[in-house]
Amino acid sequence: MKKSYSIINLRNIQNEEKDLGGLTFVEELNDIPFGIKRIYSIYGTKAEKRRGFHSHKSNWQLLFCPYGCIELILDDGYEKNVVVLDKPYTGLIIPPNYWREIVWKQDNSVLMVAASEMYDPDEYIRDYDEFMTYIQNNA
Ligand code: TYD
Repeated sequence: MKKSYSIINLRNIQNEEKDLGGLTFVEELNDIPFGIKRIYSIYGTKAEKRRGFHSHKSNWQLLFCPYGCIELILDDGYEKNVVVLDKPYTGLIIPPNYWREIVWKQDNSVLMVAASEMYDPDEYIRDYDEFMTYIQNNA
């Protein structure tokens, strides 16, 4: 059966002392369904800019936005859904085979990504028609 994306609450500890803030954390396999081989962040992006425009053949990812507001448009080849990451403790798990557009809703929002695979340009699909053909042949 096709794996669907999911939204999770990251484990979150709010300090009881005023202005000390919160702390979130994630453990591979305990909190997310994959082991983490790579972590990266995207920063310094201005509002209304868009990135992404690709899918992955094998890479699972956890996305979260520790600062700001970022919108994900997720397309599995059949339907599109929008997920908004606007809290530091909201996580989005994306299995392979989702075309994604990432829209910055606020200047300098930070996108953190934990990935199941090392960087491999060959497991990306960067052309939408190729993505649709791949989905139809690998459903
Ligand atoms: P890319 O995945 O295309 O980012 P976006 O889709 O958000 O624009 O990555 C941008 C560039 O960074 C591209 O040249 C590939 C390189 N890159 C790495 O070398 N290693 C990595 O782990 C990642 C995520 C990207």
